[in-house]
Amino acid sequence: MTNLQIFLDIATEAALAAGAVLQGYWGKLEDAITEKGRPGDLVTAADKAAEVVILEILRRHFPQHSILAEESGKLGNQDNEYLWAIDPLDGTTNYAHQYPCFAVSIGLLINGVPQVGVIYNPFHDELFRAAAGLGATRNRRPIQVSGASELGKSLLVTGFAYDRRETSDNNYAEFCHLTHLTQGVRRSGSASMDLAYVACGRFDGYWERGLSPWDIAAGVILLQEAGGKVTAYDGSPLKIESGRILATNGYIHDTLSRELMQIPPLSTWK
Ligand code: IPD
Ligand code: CA
Ligand code: CA
Repeated sequence: MTNLQIFLDIATEAALAAGAVLQGYWGKLEDAITEKGRPGDLVTAADKAAEVVILEILRRHFPQHSILAEESGKLGNQDNEYLWAIDPLDGTTNYAHQYPCFAVSIGLLINGVPQVGVIYNPFHDELFRAAAGLGATRNRRPIQVSGASELGKSLLVTGFAYDRRETSDNNYAEFCHLTHLTQGVRRSGSASMDLAYVACGRFDGYWERGLSPWDIAAGVILLQEAGGKVTAYDGSPLKIESGRILATNGYIHDTLSRELMQIPPLSTWK
């Protein structure tokens, strides 16, 4: 078995275990929901408990690896060749409202490049997995991106970061502009699910700003292995720390990139 396969299998074990924790807390949070800082940026007892389970499994198997986890922060040297980027509950707002669009997202960066990814939605029992050169699967069956080649026949998805009230670079103009040009733009509330859904062809493209590596590390390799394309908005290579991502089936990539680079001001939208 290759190292990547081993990493993938252990990440899967961790994602399934965390998923069971999330299922256990589902609908039972009551007052175990707090705001982390910005309005609307929630954390729950489920986020924390799921992360504990993931950390225990990864550290037991890979004590030399480093970790970047949403609730625990940086653990170990962040320049380590192996860095796990972990979001124990991506879609916390959805989860807190019992809207079942959320996932555990575990990605492994090797020398800064996403190489292994597992995204698991326990509510729908959907397990997305990928590793570089090993393909992408949903519930162990191969997946691939859609064949849509025109923006006008595409369904897109995006999101709005928690700092949206503090900046005019809040994606509102982009959302309006692309809503006009496509069959629709959805806002799911879970970046990892957005990337997984582009990977399996449910969406044709996704863009967002203000993201963290743990939101997208797993989804990036999943989408690439499913035949999709991932870059910065302008089509240049993705810098995962930039928080800005353009991810598509490949066919609409250049057109969508061009549109994102020339968004008319919101005041002209009608
Ligand atoms: C959030 C979700 C959401 C995205 C936000 C993320 P969280 O993650 O992925 O879709 O728009 O930018 O922070 O807080 O639910 O883990
Ligand atoms: Ca997240
Ligand atoms: Ca989270």
